[in-house]
Amino acid sequence: MSIFYNDKQRSFRLDAKDTSYMMKYTEEGYLCHVYYGKKVPDEDLGYLLRFDESPRTPLENNRDRATFLDTTPFEYSCFGIGDYREAAFKILDDKGMTAVDLRYKSHRIYKGKPELEGMPATFATDESGCETLEITMEDKPSGLEAVLVYTAFDKLDVITRSVRVNNVGSRSIQLTRVLSACIDFDTDKFDMITLNGSWARERAVERCRLHHGKQLIDSIKGESSHQNNPFVALCDNNTDEDRGEVFGFNFVYSGNFFAQAEVTQHKKTRFVMGINPLDFTWLLEPGETFTAPEVVMVHSDEGLGKMSRTFHDLYRGNLIRGEYKDKRRPILINNWEATYFNFDTEKIISIAREASKLGIEMLVMDDGWFGHRDSDNSSLGDWFVYEKKIQGGLKYLVDEVNKLGMKFGLWFEPEMISPDSDLYRAHPDWAIQIEGRPLTMSREQYVLDYSNKDVRDYIYSMMRKILDSANIEYIKWDMNRQFTEIGSNFLPANRQRELWHRYVLGVYDVMNRLTTDYPHILLENCSGGGARFDPGMLYYSPQIWCSDDTDAIERLKIQHGTSMCYPCSAMGAHVSDCPNHTVGRNTPFRTRGHVAMVGTFGYELDVTRIPQEDRDSIPAQIEEFNKYNTLVRTGDHYRIGNVFEDNTWDAWMFVSKDKTDALLEFVQVLARPNERSRRIKLKGLDPDAYYYEESEPDRKISGAALMNAGINIAKIWGADGISGDFASKILHFIKT
Ligand code: DGJ
Repeated sequence: MSIFYNDKQRSFRLDAKDTSYMMKYTEEGYLCHVYYGKKVPDEDLGYLLRFDESPRTPLENNRDRATFLDTTPFEYSCFGIGDYREAAFKILDDKGMTAVDLRYKSHRIYKGKPELEGMPATFATDESGCETLEITMEDKPSGLEAVLVYTAFDKLDVITRSVRVNNVGSRSIQLTRVLSACIDFDTDKFDMITLNGSWARERAVERCRLHHGKQLIDSIKGESSHQNNPFVALCDNNTDEDRGEVFGFNFVYSGNFFAQAEVTQHKKTRFVMGINPLDFTWLLEPGETFTAPEVVMVHSDEGLGKMSRTFHDLYRGNLIRGEYKDKRRPILINNWEATYFNFDTEKIISIAREASKLGIEMLVMDDGWFGHRDSDNSSLGDWFVYEKKIQGGLKYLVDEVNKLGMKFGLWFEPEMISPDSDLYRAHPDWAIQIEGRPLTMSREQYVLDYSNKDVRDYIYSMMRKILDSANIEYIKWDMNRQFTEIGSNFLPANRQRELWHRYVLGVYDVMNRLTTDYPHILLENCSGGGARFDPGMLYYSPQIWCSDDTDAIERLKIQHGTSMCYPCSAMGAHVSDCPNHTVGRNTPFRTRGHVAMVGTFGYELDVTRIPQEDRDSIPAQIEEFNKYNTLVRTGDHYRIGNVFEDNTWDAWMFVSKDKTDALLEFVQVLARPNERSRRIKLKGLDPDAYYYEESEPDRKISGAALMNAGINIAKIWGADGISGDFASKILHFIKT
């Protein structure tokens, strides 16, 4: 049992593995947050609420009620009743009023974890031992009920939250803000860690100290975005990779989001996370329900590393689904950086032929195979084969690739429409638009109105025709622009502001149909690189393209940041050609392989044209990937270096769950003079066990020595004996 209710004290306690979370409601029904942190055995920590300290008394009509409302830690803050901190919940009622006052009505506790209708969410398994608490709060004047849903995971330090709003009254109410989580911490001594960036620079780790006022990240682009990932960690000022307390929050959603930490007048911190309230309203008619997406909350008292490993375990076990959930992914070669739009059947087959000889297992044909697409200025929406390029048709091409012993994968961008397309000529009204305003072009394309089921049905039926026409075993689902002129030709005026969220639900609907109808297809998400690397997408696709930046050195940062909350098994990572197409850097082929090995692994180059030496090294590189892939995919990940702080080196480890097998990867970013070796302390080993490095079987070193004293990694010299920049090394430790 992990959820406890004490009737006398009116208190709730949720226990995850080593975490407790407590709430209590007052006689008047205010639901107050009491505690979140390391596990405690007590049933009631209500004294923390300081109700006995004047003037904080909740009594109705008491002169100090306003003080109570603006200072008490609330579990789900409401707008307009005297709590001037950030509201989690706000409405616009049929009389134009915005105040709302949710009070405790009832609760229920049950085993397992409910699904969120039409939306991704983590799930319980037989092993995960989940228990759920639903607290129903009511606002009698509006007739609204908000059901706060909490699930505690027995074997992980994870608690999830979401909210269901029911209109049980008789009035039409506009919801103008339904955030998914609100937590009032009794301190302001926090650093806020976020993952920020841009195209080709996704998820850079940024850390800043909280100060009075509001510090927020958000997206209003229609997707989770390159710029801000829906992840926040709040940690003690002295928390580092291995020590200190941290609370990690990740939003299981792929559209506009909002996450904010607010330091209040009394030096407390209110954290909120949910769908971005900017430009959001949802009309809730009597009898209707609105569901807000899930927030995953992870607590760690052993630094950021443990927080990340908890997220990784949760997502690998309780979010990612499908045939490839626990399987090694086929080693693919993608033709995007090899050819861009300039390819035909013969070129694709020539790449596949060469790749198959080297041990590559799947050919992925990227953008440009449909409609009459020779550049990015046409054909999105025309999901039929471009016969001029794909001579002989798709089935012929796929069969030829299959004959080489390779699987075949295909690129789609199902959410978009080009003005130069048959689809746009037939249905110009299917683009998201506002009548009377010019439509803003981005990458020469518009966004399809996925709130409209006809649009979704049509696009999906076109995709099905393609998928049924040949043996396609992988799909790359891309999405390459952000939203403007947010209007739908199919929604009434009073539901137009629902478009943002209805769009995301529409995308989830098609992804759900696709993964249900084609369970054997491996789906990889992508959005102009990594603009939609979020847990919502992971529910449908076990891997996501990390970034269009394939440079091994840039990838150190991108993959380090991504690993904050996403497992390496989900990171789309490829070896590409040099000079790198994004940054023009030359790096050793071997280093490119070692960095891509952290993720799903594959190639993104014209294998018929790369230097012979590189081509010759591919079979051994693949062998190395295969040797370590189970460890990388299923083991515990430890960050050792931090390229955001020291850009001269990086290192990380994977350690098997039973601690018998460990891989250390090291990259010497910039070689430094007068430094013959670098001391690295290993992590995650069994201190009492002895290990040897595979190349030195006779030298046994204790786990304690490897972790506390470390090892010396000798400086790596380049082939010329002078330079050593961007060189890499891997060391394999095996328990004796
Ligand atoms: C953006 C993706 O990130 C690339 O990998 C590639 O698929 C292009 N789109 C194709 O247009």
